[in-house]
Amino acid sequence: MRLRDSPSAFGPVSRFNHWLGALLVLAMLALGLYFSSLPPGAERSYWRTLHIAIGTLSLPLVAFRIVWRCAASAPLAPPHPRIERVMARGVHLSMLMALVAMLTSGVLMQWFARRPIGVFDLLRIASPLTESDIWHERMAQLHAIAAWCLIGLIALHVVGALKHGLQEGRAFWGRMLGQPGKQ
Ligand code: HEM
Ligand code: HEM
Repeated sequence: MRLRDSPSAFGPVSRFNHWLGALLVLAMLALGLYFSSLPPGAERSYWRTLHIAIGTLSLPLVAFRIVWRCAASAPLAPPHPRIERVMARGVHLSMLMALVAMLTSGVLMQWFARRPIGVFDLLRIASPLTESDIWHERMAQLHAIAAWCLIGLIALHVVGALKHGLQEGRAFWGRMLGQPGKQ
């Protein structure tokens, strides 16, 4: 089985990265917006710890996704008008950049408050940074701004995908869902 992308479709590794990534990002956005609306207390603390655990586990996944995207070539652009191809590419790139901004600011926000990141009590990575209220605040602002940018970009991305999916059906969805016989 061919693992890399082919000229006509994303390969199994890119598809796995995309759909697991989409699930994690949507879960992280929902969790982040939910717990940050709660008053301080045990419930907020529980959801916050879960958010940080999933965020910590996402770090190697996103790093691998970006390395794979650079190494696996990517299929040829679909036969859409040039402006749509440029917009789709711009939105894909901006989503990946917003994702990197979310992960970096999330980690640095914790570390500038001298708090560890990690996965509950299973893995704890202590802060290597000196405490800084100013930088903690800046990273919290970046985290919130990047979250709203990401929400806007995902909305554009899903609307674009639905438009092309409705117009072209399987020929379009097959690129990210798998086209039997074309891998
Ligand atoms: C849940 C609804 C989603 C649907 C229906 C969807 C659908 C698709 C489709 C069909 C493609 C292939 C476009 C092409 O053929 O050129 C694609 C690519 C892509 N999507 Fe999504 N997507 C969704 C969510 C997301 C989310 C939440 C993210 C990121 C945070 C994302 C990031 C990307 C990226 C970066 C690409 C380019 C290929 C890659 O590098 O993985 N998508 N998406
Ligand atoms: C896909 C990556 C991520 C997404 C989509 C995401 C999303 C969000 C959102 C939407 C909020 C609420 C922002 C607000 O309105 O103030 C939030 C808050 C927060 N996130 Fe993330 N996050 C991600 C990664 C991380 C990581 C990796 C960490 C740390 C390891 C982290 C730590 C936090 C913390 C501590 C807050 C609370 C900020 C506060 O107390 O106001 N996040 N996140």
